[in-house]
Formats: sequence, C-alpha cells, structure tokens
Amino acid sequence: AIDPQFHENREKVDDHEGHDVWGPVDEPDKLGIHGTHVAVDFDLCIADGACLEDCPVDVFEWVDTPGHPESEEKADPANEAQCIDCMLCVDVCPVDAIDVDAG
Ligand code: SF4
Ligand code: F3S
Ligand code: ZN
Repeated sequence: AIDPQFHENREKVDDHEGHDVWGPVDEPDKLGIHGTHVAVDFDLCIADGACLEDCPVDVFEWVDTPGHPESEEKADPANEAQCIDCMLCVDVCPVDAIDVDAG
C-alpha cells in the first residue's frame, strides 16, 4: 500500500501538470507518487480505473506510462484541488495506491 507518511519519507523531485511528484523516480520502471492532497503511488497503480469511475468530482485523469512493469497508464490526480474528501477512491482501489489527506 501507499506509505501514508510519504511527505516525510520521500522528497519532492518534480512537478507534473501543477502537482508534486515524490521520488525516487527512474523512468520507465520507477515513477514515484503523484499529488499531495490526493496522492497516487504510480509504482503500485495497476490501472484498475475504479478511482476514475467513482470520483464524484473527476479528480483523476489517465496518463500514459509506457514500459512501467505494473501498467502502461496511471490515474493522475490532475485536479486534486477539487477533492471533497469523500474517500471513495481510497476505498475502491484494489491495490491501495491512493492516499487522501483529509486532515
Ligand atoms: Fe475524488 Fe473523493 Fe477521492 Fe477526493 S476522496 S479524489 S473527491 S473520490
Ligand atoms: Fe490505479 Fe487504483 Fe485507480 S489501481 S487506476 S489508483 S483504482
Ligand atoms: Zn501527475
């Protein structure tokens, strides 16, 4: 599962479409965690898609990740500022790749 303490245990290494990327990143095998309020561990995501289907405010968008060992697309928290902390995505992800910091 995603490390809920990733803000302490990882470093911000990049910015992707306005959100943080937490390393380590070594493409294409290692992609890190995207987002901060809504965080998706790209190295765990298997592109199940339940988060995209269930999020009531469309926080997630598919991003292509060719060559990654788990899946060739990931749920990117492109609109994390819209999150209403319903926690549905956290509950439905089969590999526990998502952390939402509801505070
Ligand atoms: Fe969307 Fe709810 Fe997940 Fe926020 S917690 S990203 S609103 S499903
Ligand atoms: Fe990935 Fe989990 Fe969503 S596997 S596509 S983060 S439901
Ligand atoms: Zn991203």
